[in-house]
Amino acid sequence: MKLKAGFVKAYLERMARAEKFGVEPPRKPETIVIDYGGPNVAKPLHIGHLRSAIIGESIKRICRYRGHRVVADVHLGDWGLQMGLIITELKRRTPGLVYFDDNYRGEYPEKAPFTMAELEEIYPVASAKSKEDAAYKQEALEATVRIQKGAPGYRALWKQIMRVSLPDLKRNYEDLQVFFDLWKGESDVEPYIAGLVERLQKQGLAYESEGALVVDVREETDAKEIPPCIILKSDGAALYATTDLATIQERMETLHADSLIYLTDKRQEMHFLQVFRVAKKSGLVSEETKLKHIGFGTMNGKDGKPFKTREGGVMRLEYLIRDINEEMYRKIVESRQDVSEEEARETAKVIGLAAIKYGDLSNQASKDYIFDMERFTSFEGDTGPYILYTIVRIKSILTRYQEQGGSLEGLALQDASNALEKDLMMQLCGFNAMLEGAYEETAPHKVCAYIYDLANAFNKFYHETKIISEEDPAKKAGWIALLLLTRDVLETCIDLLGFSAPERM
Ligand code: ARG
Repeated sequence: MKLKAGFVKAYLERMARAEKFGVEPPRKPETIVIDYGGPNVAKPLHIGHLRSAIIGESIKRICRYRGHRVVADVHLGDWGLQMGLIITELKRRTPGLVYFDDNYRGEYPEKAPFTMAELEEIYPVASAKSKEDAAYKQEALEATVRIQKGAPGYRALWKQIMRVSLPDLKRNYEDLQVFFDLWKGESDVEPYIAGLVERLQKQGLAYESEGALVVDVREETDAKEIPPCIILKSDGAALYATTDLATIQERMETLHADSLIYLTDKRQEMHFLQVFRVAKKSGLVSEETKLKHIGFGTMNGKDGKPFKTREGGVMRLEYLIRDINEEMYRKIVESRQDVSEEEARETAKVIGLAAIKYGDLSNQASKDYIFDMERFTSFEGDTGPYILYTIVRIKSILTRYQEQGGSLEGLALQDASNALEKDLMMQLCGFNAMLEGAYEETAPHKVCAYIYDLANAFNKFYHETKIISEEDPAKKAGWIALLLLTRDVLETCIDLLGFSAPERM
């Protein structure tokens, strides 16, 4: 099929004038809840949490751009054994704290008995001890139950852990340009659990098996064995599936969700399959409610094994970010002399984030991928820095045009005058279809593939075209109009991916 140059130009003109380049609002906007991030409070964020945050943030932005009402919930792991472990270790170190005095009836101190740095030190110590010392582990389990049952001192201490940890977590996510609407957690649905269990029992779905309370979720068409979903352990404790079911109930009641999307490591696939089946069977959600788990693969090192520090430990998120920013900084000062230390540091952060996010998002989420510092930070090839470089290049041409006295207002596109220009125009025409595909398939990698092709088409056109020295003013203005549209589409797309471009680099 051949398209007339005039037709392509007219389409792009409409696209440039329209809001969101002509992406139309959905006929029936949906409420979509996206559950991502999922950090465990008081445990350091590690790169396992990175993918959830990066992919979830992009999916949130894509759904929102498509015109739906999207609620992003971080769903904190704030209720688990790690809290009991921290309290156990604190009790060993400072048994005299009033929190541990069961007869204490007064107000608890306002000030936390630890700093964030201390918390970070305490958790790994407690975790290591519990692995070697059965009595210690038992104490931590009991402490966890006491928090959950609401023992005043333990609950007060738990609140202190939350108060000290949350600002730190928020800062971490902000550095990643990841923003949540809700900062709820597992603990928030505690009031729902008893009612939920009763409901499942009354419906005849939950029954006792080997002391535990379970719900069968097998279906005839299953190709493999799907074990029952455990609702309560034999000691009566609620589990991960229980809080997730209670959370579904809460989200349906308070947000009236049409669709729930979860992002975790794909090793949690079975968990979500079970939870979703119980939710449908018990009517916590309707037949039409969409439940989707996006299980992502592992980020591996160059050796093909899960990414580790040089010492072989689990890599902490902030170290990974620090390393990549350092590498970007080195590259910037190497290639430019006219840049101040401060600007270079700032720019390194912006490009570093693009390198990490694009490196992740350009892969299909379910696949494992290799974190390759050299490749991710390269200014050439299918990388974040290459995309940013293209945007910055366009911006600098636009600036030069203005310096020559040109205005960026009211410019008219022209029919393509050569094949490369037409290729670029055709790429731009593909924006709407790409967005629809990325939304339908919740697939940020489609945005990456699109902007990589778009950036390539632009750069090929740019290398063959002398824009700034063009004599014919209409032709020149048409190219500038094309550049403006290219810049806007690229910037919109990187915003959908969750990063931005610097002014210079
Ligand atoms: N905190 C969990 C973890 O670290 C992830 C939570 C994911 N969300 C959910 N609703 N289960 O594995």
